Amino acid sequence: MNIVILAAGMGKRMQSALPKVLHPLAGKPLLAHVIETARQLSPTRLCVIYGHGGDQVPQAMQANDLAFAKQEPQLGTGHAVAQAVPQLDDSVPTLILYGDVPLTTATSLQRLLDTAGAEKLGILTVNLDDPTGYGRIVRAGDNHTGDICRIVEQKDASETEKNIREVNTGIMVAPTPALKKWLSKLSNNNAQGEYYLTDIVAAAVADGVPVVSAQPDHVWETHGVNSKVQLAELERVHQRNLAHRLLEQGVTLADPARIDIRGTLTCGRDVSIDVGCVFEGDVVLADGVRIDAYCVISASRIGAQAHVRPYSHFENADVGPECIIGPFARLRPGTVLAEDVHIGNFVEVKNSEIAAHSKANHLTYVGDSTVGSRVNLGAGTITCNYDGVNKSRTIIEDDVFVGSATQLIAPIRVGKGATLGAGTTLTKDAPADKLTVSRAKQVTVDSWQRPVKQKK
Ligand code: UD1
Ligand code: MG
Repeated sequence: MNIVILAAGMGKRMQSALPKVLHPLAGKPLLAHVIETARQLSPTRLCVIYGHGGDQVPQAMQANDLAFAKQEPQLGTGHAVAQAVPQLDDSVPTLILYGDVPLTTATSLQRLLDTAGAEKLGILTVNLDDPTGYGRIVRAGDNHTGDICRIVEQKDASETEKNIREVNTGIMVAPTPALKKWLSKLSNNNAQGEYYLTDIVAAAVADGVPVVSAQPDHVWETHGVNSKVQLAELERVHQRNLAHRLLEQGVTLADPARIDIRGTLTCGRDVSIDVGCVFEGDVVLADGVRIDAYCVISASRIGAQAHVRPYSHFENADVGPECIIGPFARLRPGTVLAEDVHIGNFVEVKNSEIAAHSKANHLTYVGDSTVGSRVNLGAGTITCNYDGVNKSRTIIEDDVFVGSATQLIAPIRVGKGATLGAGTTLTKDAPADKLTVSRAKQVTVDSWQRPVKQKK
């Protein structure tokens, strides 16, 4: 099938320079959600109609399987679909989606496609308690329960038509040659002076083409975004759905209303996540991982039984099994921790590998380093990896003990089993199994007296 996604509208009520369809939901543009769903239906042609915001939409979305057609000016939904006509393959039907309706499921769309088949015009409709603003589905018969005759827009509807609760979601599928013919005959003789896509319904009826409808599983699947209020509401719907999916898989969430997933979160068995955590990109939590409150975890993998304590921040980190991280730990890109590594409060690790059973529990910076097993980095250890121009590596071999408040001026190596005395500023390699210490000589000045405040 062909799929056309309408994304030319300007979204005035978003009050933003960014085109509406590029506003993020769960960390990803609205339009990207629609494209992802469209791809699940394996279309042969996938065409996005853009317009408002210049080339920002094609630039943000470009992909091999996507075609773009510009609609300028924007003269209505029918005029928008008409811009895709040269791209549409006549031998398969055309499905029309909206770029600002992000949560429609492939299951609901497939139901519409199955109902319409290759020959009929299909409309995804919903019944709303308050249908205000939507196009109404006008059916034959006094009770409006017969076959679909046409769609009337809110602004063109009579008082009786305004009482119809079945509305057009905007999502339709049509046989392509007939669609092309109907589009070419649209007029803008209506309350909004626009070329309405919805007028193809009456045209189909006139041509004797059956018009059918299907309903989505949930009304929220049809909700569009016109304002930041609606965007925030749909974000909550989406996050609730993601949270429920995790609960159903057996993940413990302290509060399913207080987790945000902006990417893919893959969890093993017996994972538990406390409130206020944000997951971005692809995150994998192995069996038994515990994430405490208010952590932000981006594109990272965390090994089995690891425990992340509150307020920790990970970015592109690989954390081994049984590690204990935080509270207030920061793991930056290129952090690779083996099993049972302890990273404590106010410790930052960047582009470094730390081997099994090593510890940096307090106020430490480990950057561009290779740290062996069973190493203890005392409070306030700093690898001085940057001389203002170049970055250099620090190598700390197995079983090293680094005393508190030590600076290691890279490039430098500390041999296996070495001990560095507290306060050392290490400027030369430290040999294995020895105590190395650099420390100014301590003096006590007997004659010294505290100054006293002078009277004026
Ligand atoms: C449209 C339908 C209405 C339906 C409602 C569902 C028409 C005439 N009306 O109304 O029956 O109940 O959606 O939300 O189709 N767009 C373009 N180019 C244009 C105009 C619109 O790309 O020239 C895009 C918009 O960006 C948006 C979608 O089409 O994604 C719908 O446009 P919108 O103006 O919101 O249509 P409604 O008046 O809400
Ligand atoms: Mg709308």
